[in-house]
Order: sequence, then structure tokens, then C-alpha cells
Amino acid sequence: MEMRSEVCGVALLVMLLSGVQAFLPGGNGGNTHVTITENALMKKMSEVCKAVVESEGREFKPTGSSVEELLGACLGSATGQVSAAKFHEALNQIYMENSLVDRDFMASNPHHFNSESFSGGRTLITQGTAAIKANIRKGSFQAARETLGRVLHTLQDFYSHSNWVELGNKATYPALIRPDLTISNIADIYTPTCSDCASGTCPNQLQPFILSRKKLTSGYMGLFSAYKPKGKCSHGGAADLSSTQNPRGGISKDERRAHNADLHNTAVSLATEASLELLEDIRGAAGNKDYLRLMGIARSAVLCFVIDTTGSMADDIAEAKRVSYSIIDSKKGTQDEPSEYILVPFNDPDFGPLIRTADPDVMKAEISKLGASGGGDAPEMCLSGLQLALTGAPASSLIYVFTDAPAKDTHLEKNIKALTHRTKSAVYYLLTASTRSKRSVSPQARSGFQLYYDLALASGGQVIKVSKADLPRATDIIIDTSTSALVTILQKARDPGSVESFPFLLDASVSKVTVYITGDSLKFTLHSPSGVSQSDSAGKGSLAVIQTVGNLWRVQLNTPIETGLWNISIVPTQAYTIKVTGQSVNTFIYNFVEDFKGPHPGYAVIYGRPQKGLPAKLLLTVTGQKGADTLKVQEVALVEVSGSRLADGVIQEMGGGKFLVTVNEVPEGEFVVMMKGEDVATSSRFQRQSTTLTSLSNVIVTATVNSTLLPGEDFLLPFTVMTSGTGGTYTITIGNDRNIPLTYNTKLNLVSGVSTESTVILKPPANTASGTDVTLTIAAEGPGGADSNYAVLRLSVLAKVTDLTPPVCEIVRVSGICLSSCTNYTWDLSVNITDGNGSGIEDISVQQGRGNFSQVAVVDGGVTVVMGRYSASCCAPDVTLSVVDKEGNVGKCSYSVQNRGGVSLSLSLLLWACLLLSALNTMQDVLLLF
Ligand SMILES: *[C@@H]1O[C@H](CO)[C@@H](O)[C@H](O)[C@H]1NC(C)=O
Ligand SMILES: *[C@@H]1O[C@H](CO)[C@@H](O)[C@H](O)[C@H]1NC(C)=O
Ligand SMILES: *[C@@H]1O[C@H](CO)[C@@H](O)[C@H](O)[C@H]1NC(C)=O
Ligand SMILES: *[C@@H]1O[C@H](CO)[C@@H](O)[C@H](O)[C@H]1NC(C)=O
Ligand SMILES: *[C@@H]1O[C@H](CO)[C@@H](O)[C@H](O)[C@H]1NC(C)=O
Ligand SMILES: *[C@@H]1O[C@H](CO)[C@@H](O)[C@H](O)[C@H]1NC(C)=O
Repeated sequence: MEMRSEVCGVALLVMLLSGVQAFLPGGNGGNTHVTITENALMKKMSEVCKAVVESEGREFKPTGSSVEELLGACLGSATGQVSAAKFHEALNQIYMENSLVDRDFMASNPHHFNSESFSGGRTLITQGTAAIKANIRKGSFQAARETLGRVLHTLQDFYSHSNWVELGNKATYPALIRPDLTISNIADIYTPTCSDCASGTCPNQLQPFILSRKKLTSGYMGLFSAYKPKGKCSHGGAADLSSTQNPRGGISKDERRAHNADLHNTAVSLATEASLELLEDIRGAAGNKDYLRLMGIARSAVLCFVIDTTGSMADDIAEAKRVSYSIIDSKKGTQDEPSEYILVPFNDPDFGPLIRTADPDVMKAEISKLGASGGGDAPEMCLSGLQLALTGAPASSLIYVFTDAPAKDTHLEKNIKALTHRTKSAVYYLLTASTRSKRSVSPQARSGFQLYYDLALASGGQVIKVSKADLPRATDIIIDTSTSALVTILQKARDPGSVESFPFLLDASVSKVTVYITGDSLKFTLHSPSGVSQSDSAGKGSLAVIQTVGNLWRVQLNTPIETGLWNISIVPTQAYTIKVTGQSVNTFIYNFVEDFKGPHPGYAVIYGRPQKGLPAKLLLTVTGQKGADTLKVQEVALVEVSGSRLADGVIQEMGGGKFLVTVNEVPEGEFVVMMKGEDVATSSRFQRQSTTLTSLSNVIVTATVNSTLLPGEDFLLPFTVMTSGTGGTYTITIGNDRNIPLTYNTKLNLVSGVSTESTVILKPPANTASGTDVTLTIAAEGPGGADSNYAVLRLSVLAKVTDLTPPVCEIVRVSGICLSSCTNYTWDLSVNITDGNGSGIEDISVQQGRGNFSQVAVVDGGVTVVMGRYSASCCAPDVTLSVVDKEGNVGKCSYSVQNRGGVSLSLSLLLWACLLLSALNTMQDVLLLF
């Protein structure tokens, strides 16, 4: 078995195929796109965290090296429990998209800098980077992450697939990420670049004059044919048919082999360095705070409200407003303060816009503007509003919908299901309908309400029926659920209800455990591990405090919570749901994955439902307080939510808290993922469940987005649908969250086992803002609704980038004297900032440093000059100012006054050298002062 350690072109988990796990941290130390990306992301994250923490006057001191501890240090001790789940989710999105380039763009030369496609590869990087920056500015972090993953792949491939390393370069190639530079000196098509290598493993195949003239070239990749232009180098490897043609061999540095070990190592370090430079450029444009949000680093949860504002809601709106105020106030200034608030109003026929803010007072002001009007007794655009919320909120959010009427836009049902599945967000409905006599509840309307139950259950949320008078008490539920580090321990649904008891494990890390039961006229008894029991009638008992709101029971366990196996037995009369949640940083995230073949095989996330007839594969990331190492995973299973069937998976540990789980016999119905294990630190057994319901499907919908959309122009997106079940006429439903007009065929005739292609045309309006992301759902449903599946795609609209030059930041003066003890002295820096003929300066920020910045803009000879002044204590000797123009080009000024405090300058020669330098520096500083 060959130990492969590919630098570039290796997909996540590829090593599994050969049984070697060298692609993930903690594996065999191989270098892959994922490890290179991870190293770069972690390094940059530490750097940004340090700058942010220090700018707040705190010290950046992680308690250990785990991701979780880094995160804790970044967010600071003022935050409550910090779960690393969202951070891992964000990183996984980046890694996965990076890996997917090897499947979705397997044969595209520019994506891999193959076959001398330099300008194409560079365009992918610079345009991708422009899209990332525009997305971040519009708050579209998920779209930005996906593009970032892909752009990093192409950038990293340059160092493996070109001869940059062989040319003796020890630094990265700036022209790849700077749109104002050009790639030059590329070997033309007629220039032979390699000499023949019969063994396929020659240390240096490049023609001497290519090296001496510093000509840039890359290996040709022949996936489908052996043809390549005369004399050209090949990529090499079994998948490259061109490598058998003279000149044979290949110059790819993907794998470390005996003949190319040094080249491989250099390629890895340059790819890492280049990744860091790209991240730094993005950070400069985004600013530190948004950069951290891009990385999924934020305190606590997001609070997302979707509120019905039709006329009949008038009373309820007042109440909904009051409820949302009180939720916002109860969290304000606490450790659980949401990192972001989202509000989507809906009416009839209007819905939106989505309002997003980090400021609780802004949110309250927005909510206070809501007024009920119009709509009459007609049902509203509830699902349209919900769709906006689902695509706008971060993954795994909780969304609260306030309404009193069934949805009118039920045609969106499939899209909503697809989106909840894709985002893993849970939807809670607060229904005040039962109190409204004005509304006649037609059978049609009733089915509308049933839809809410279905959607809530599928997402892991709940429907809470409340009278207006009860609504305030419903507040508590929202307060419970919008806490940080919320985990689900058990989730079940029964329809029809049956007498049953549900055991659940509570471990030492869980606090604030609450059991929610929805259902009318039921009875239940709670049993503790030590045998104490409490029935529903005991409001305040020895085990818990029990409250009811409408159809909902809220059972809050008393503290301290006994660890071990609890049990709740339910005697229902109707359908019911039960859910046990708590707060804990020990949790997991997961994705269903499938393997793919090709020159760089690997695993890809399945964003729709996994395929029937195959074993289900999951990639699990486990996270705990002190890193994943303190958690032992013992069982991972797919469990039915509406039944009791359970299918155990085979667990393969990949290192770094990652596990690949294969489940051979998947339950027929809808299931969730359940994990059991042991927390080594506390020796207590734990249990966690995912909340989003999944089931298998015979239908597969695939589509790949290969570029951004231009405002005002048609965008053709091909997609394919295939079924391994029955053929026939399938119904296609395509939706998007931005109201972009779509053109497509709603019917598609499928033959079993044959992939059928179709196309959807999107035309974003000419005034669509650059950076807008569009979430597109393509759903395919078989005859009679028997089987269905979908694809969810994220697209970005990007206006043509015309400004390629960064703003210029020029240091014009440094003044102040930093002598001996720094505390009583200050220094300052004056800069002149211009953007020439560019798009104009958008933002100037202190990227690093703990001082004050002020600025004034003057027009001098028709050119706008921003004169800035930075002043800081001598104890904060370093500054980096970041200047961004309207198209995201970044210019920087850095300066460091040497701190000449006595202690640090003592003995070593090195320090004497520093002293000399700083003495010179001081003189300069002083001179400038006058
Ligand atoms: C749960 O409680 C019921 C009723 O007391 C009991 O029959 C059952 O054995 C218990 N199950 C567990 C796992 O403790
Ligand atoms: C993107 O896909 C479309 C449709 O498949 C194709 O025509 C186009 O050439 C592709 N563009 C790139 C940059 O790969
Ligand atoms: C900085 O800009 C101001 C305003 O345009 C100008 O008067 C000054 O000369 C500039 N300083 C330098 C060093 O260019
Ligand atoms: C700083 O200034 C204060 C008040 O002027 C003085 O008491 C203190 O000794 C000074 N500290 C140092 C280290 O010079
Ligand atoms: C601005 O554009 C004009 C005309 O294209 C050019 O002559 C001039 O050099 C440009 N100035 C800068 C600062 O780039
Ligand atoms: C920065 O501004 C704050 C508030 O205006 C002030 O208290 C502080 O002394 C300033 N710091 C420096 C180094 O000028």
C-alpha cells in the first residue's frame, strides 16, 4: 500500500480509498489541500484574534492548543459557554468546497493550473476573491466561504502543478492574487518545456533554457486523451494519459516521492504562504470583525424572527413585539447575547426584506416599525418569508415564526424542506390562530396548519399553539432555545400517540436541561437515574419545574442535575412530540457524504437526501471543551424519529475529532443522527442527537455553479435529474430567495437509471447589488409524489470589476518620543491616503494596534486625499492601517516605533543590533517632530 501525501489535488478523505489516512490533522502527516488550508486558516485566525483581543486591551492567552481553546481565548472570558460547532461548520464548508474542485472541475485546466492555463487560473483567483469580498460586504458569509474554498484550491495547485518551484523561487507569486499585476514570461505553445523521462520519476525534467530564461510552464493533464502539444511537460500519474507521450513523466508535486521530496516540500510551504496572503488580503478588505464572522467565530446564537404583519395580526403583533423586546432585553449584555438579530416581516402579497443587525437597539427599532395592515382574512406569504430567513441566517440557526394563519404560498413546501435540510436550521411556529374567531378555518386552511407541523418536525422545531394571553409565557421557550451551546439530547415524534417511555442519558457537561412535550391532553412521568419520579401534575417537584403554555409542556430539570439514564414515560391521547435539550459544549456536527472517482478521488458532501440502495456515509466532527480528544465516540446510529428503529454505523476515526461513519442498513423512514460516547474528563457517558430529519431517495439532482452571475444578464445553469426508482414524468420546482426571474421546464421525463439534463435560466435585475448571494433550490418529484430529492445551490451576483488598483497609504510623518518606560508617552503617525482613478475609498480601519485614528478628506488638485492621524501609547508600538476601496482592493500602512524600555534591551548581540537600529529610528522620529 502506497503512502500518498499529495499536496494539491487531493480531496478530503481520499486516503481512505487506499486505506491510509493522511489527509486530516492527526493522520500520517501528509500534506493535502485540506491540511494546507487548515494550517493557513488557523494561523491567520490566531493572528486576527490576537489583534482583536489586544485592541480591546486584553491579552490573548489560549489555555491550550486545541481549536476550542483558541476560540475561547478569541471570544474572551466574558462569554458564556462557547461551542466550537459553528466554527467547525464554517471550516468544513471551506474544506469541502476546496475538495469538490477535484470532482466538479476535474477536467477544467484553469481550476488546477494544468496545461499552461495560467491566465484562466489567475482569473478564477482574482474574480473569486472579488466575489468573496463583495459577499462579505453584503453579509453573505456562506457564499463567501464556498468561494474561498475553491479559490484556495486553485491557488494552491499553482505551486504543485507549475514549475514555479523548479525555477528556484523561494517566495510566492504575487501576480496570482493581485489583479493589478500580470503573469508574464509564460512559455508559449510552441516552446518545448520538458525532456523525456522513461521511468516517470525524474528529479528534473525541465529543459535547461526554460530554467535559465525563467519561463513559466505547467504540466499537461490528459484525462480523456493522450494528446499534448509537442515537447510539453505532463502532470504525471496514472490518470494522466499524456504522461505516456514523449516527453514522458510529469512535473506535478502533488505527492512526496523520493525523486521530488524537496520540490514537494517547497510547493507545500509556498502554497501555505500563498493561502495566508490571500487570507490576509480578504481580511484587509473585510476588517477583523467580519473576517472572524467569515470563520464562524461569534459569540452565541443568532436570534431570527419571522413575523406576520397582516391586518388580523394587529393584536398579536403588539404582543409579538412585546415578546421579542423582552427576549432581546433579557439577553442584552449577558453572556448569551445573540451575535446577530434577523427579522423578516411577511404580509400578503409582500414579504421581506430581511433585516440583519448586531445591535439589539436597532433590532428593537425595526420591530417597533412593524404594523399590521392589509391581507384581510387571506392566508399569507409565510413560506416566502421563512425562505428568506432560512437562506439569510447562518446554518443551524433557530427561527421563530409568529403567525395566525395558514400559508398561502404552499408551493414552496419542497423548497423549504430542502432548505431546512441543507441549513440544518430549526423552525419554531408560534401559532395564535386558535384564538381567532374572525377566521373561518376551511379544510384547505387546516391543511395549511398541518404543513407547519410537518415543516417544524422535519427541521427539528416545534409548533406552539398559544392564545394571545399565553404568548408572553412562550417567551421563556425562545429564551431557552436561543442560548449558546444548545444541544439536543433526544427528539421523538409519535402520530398517533402511543404509551411509551423514552430513556435519555445526561452527562456532567450538560446544564439547563429542559424537556419539551407538545401534544394535547397527555400525561407523563419523569424518572431520575436514582429512581425518583415526578408526574406532570406536580408543577414544582423534586425533579423539575413543569409549566404549560398552550399545547406545550416545558419541564426544566432542577439543578444540580443527576447524571445517568433518565426516563420519561408518556400516556397520550393524540399525536405528540418530545424533545430534550441542554447546554453543553460537547457536541457534534455532521454531513452525509459520497465518494467520487477521478485522478484525485475523494468524498463530497451530499446537500440533498442520500441515495437509496447504498450504505449511508457520514462525516462527523466532534467538539468539546478542551478539544475533541477528551471525547470518546462509542456509538453513532441513524434513529427513526417517528419509530424506534435504529441503525448502528461503523466508526472510523480520522483524527482531529473527525470520524467517518458508514451505515449499511439505513432505516426506511425519516431519521436523525444519534451519537453516544464518554467524556473522558468527567468519565460520564453522553448522548447527542441531530435535529434535522433525513430520509433516503432514489432520485438524484445534480448541478454545479461554475461562475458568478452578472447583473442584468441571463445565466444558464444546467442540472441533471436521475432516478434509480420508477421513471415517468417528474415535476421540477425551482425557487430562489431573491425573487430573481427563473425560466425552466416544470416537467421532465425520466427513464430509470438514465441521467436527464435540463437547464434553468436566471436573470438577475440590472440593479442587483454586487455581492448579493442567491440560494437556488431545485426540487424533483416523481409521479404521485412517491419520491423526491433536491439540490441547493448558492450563487453570487458580481458586477464587472473595473478597479484593479489598491488605494495607496503613504506615511508622511511620525512624531513623539518613546523613551524608557512606555506608560507615560505617546506617539503618532500621519498618513496620506489616495485611490487615484480608482473606485474611491470605502473604509479605513486599524487592523492592528490599540490607538486612535482620525481622518479628514481634502480635495487637492482634483484628487481626494484622506489625511489620517493615528496616535497611540508607546506601550502599543505597532500599527497596521488597512484601506479598502469600493471594489475591495486593499492598501496598507504599517509602522512600528521601537519600544526602548530598559529591560528588553540587554545582553545579546541581536539586541545590540536592534538598539543601534532603534537609536537611528529615534533620531528620525525626533527629527520628524520638528
Ligand atoms: C422507564 O420507566 C418505565 C416506567 O417506570 C419503566 O417501565 C422502564 O423500564 C424505564 N426504562 C428505563 C430505561 O429506565
Ligand atoms: C460553465 O458552464 C457552462 C455550462 O455548462 C459552460 O458553457 C461554460 O463554459 C462554463 N464556464 C467555465 C468558466 O467553466
Ligand atoms: C498630504 O496631503 C496633503 C493634502 O493633499 C498635502 O498638502 C501634503 O503635501 C501631503 N503630504 C505629502 C508628504 O505628500
Ligand atoms: C508617569 O506619570 C505619573 C504622573 O505624571 C508619575 O507619577 C509616574 O511616576 C510616571 N511613571 C513613569 C513610569 O514615569
Ligand atoms: C488616471 O487616469 C488618467 C487617464 O487614464 C491617467 O493619465 C493618469 O495617470 C491616472 N492617474 C492615476 C493616479 O492613476
Ligand atoms: C484615544 O481616545 C480616547 C477617548 O477619546 C482617549 O481617552 C485616549 O487617551 C486616546 N488615546 C491616545 C493614545 O491618544
